[in-house]
Amino acid sequence: MNEFFGNPNFSVSHQKVSASCPSNIALIKYWGKYENQIPANPSISYTLNNCKTNTEVEFLAGEKFGVQTFLAGKEELKFAEKIEKYFKSIVEYVPWILEGKYIIRTENTFPHSSGIASSASGFGAIAKTLMELDELFSGKIGTEAKVKKASFLSRLGSGSACRSLYNGLVVWGETHEVQNSSDLFAVQYPNSEVHTSFKNFNDWVLLIHEGEKTVSSTVGHGLMNTNPYAERRFLEAHENFALLKVILKNGDMEGFIKLVEHEALTLHAMMMMSDPAFILMKTGTLAVINKIWEFRKETKLPLFFTLDAGANVHLLFPSNQEQTSIREFIIKELLQHTQNNGVVKDVMHF
Ligand code: PMV
Repeated sequence: MNEFFGNPNFSVSHQKVSASCPSNIALIKYWGKYENQIPANPSISYTLNNCKTNTEVEFLAGEKFGVQTFLAGKEELKFAEKIEKYFKSIVEYVPWILEGKYIIRTENTFPHSSGIASSASGFGAIAKTLMELDELFSGKIGTEAKVKKASFLSRLGSGSACRSLYNGLVVWGETHEVQNSSDLFAVQYPNSEVHTSFKNFNDWVLLIHEGEKTVSSTVGHGLMNTNPYAERRFLEAHENFALLKVILKNGDMEGFIKLVEHEALTLHAMMMMSDPAFILMKTGTLAVINKIWEFRKETKLPLFFTLDAGANVHLLFPSNQEQTSIREFIIKELLQHTQNNGVVKDVMHF
């Protein structure tokens, strides 16, 4: 842990820095955590390309500590409060952090009301700007160490954010299956261990329900503490890592589909088994899932889904081959289940 403590010798000055960070979508889900944002199980995600947060930070050295935030030009007081609290919580890792005032301007490349989680890309981008400032105030550190610490810092803001600092497939949480994996920061899943079939993928997010979720992920994670199925779930995530490792190596698309959909449904099953129980899926979510299953049965084409902690459906299908019938099916059959014909198209290439 020592490597993340900040340099006590620093010198602050007025600066403006900016950074951009993409969102990510988990294949093996993180759901449940211990103190200090330690995940209850390892997770792995694809880093997206188009869904990003762009953040500019102006640091007014020597002014009273405080944070002002603007989201797409509009002042956001609640977000500022959250960031202030976050900055105070990481002072041992960033010793200069309370030595000035911040004006943070941030915008997402995806619609704000879409219900797509912006916390991963948002905290990822803020952690990146902090590391830019850290270099200016405390001296140069190597690129690798800088990204690693940005991953460490962003985890303390929002767990899943730590995976957004790397491209491709990214692992967070200690597992025997991935060398150097850690509960404290994310690592890239070795590219050489990934079959080319999994390196070019579309992720089209069907916006089934736009707007705020009824239960936040912070509350959802907390409810795993009393969930009678939690321990079995944490163990299963480890088992699924072992399975996924073989699937990724061999290019086993059928195995991949089965595992990814199972993980998504398990996440939502955990919500239903919580006390109090909650359900984030909507009628449209279930309709889309059933249609995907029918389509796959009929066509044998590799269209499948995963879910975040929300009602939206992430449609996954390979992007390296002409998949005209998949695209047509989505537009003709699935789009009608969205609230406003909303779909955000993203793609993974690595
Ligand atoms: O990082 P958080 O606290 O927003 O939790 C995210 C949890 C899921 O998105 C549901 C799963 C994951 O691994 O990203």
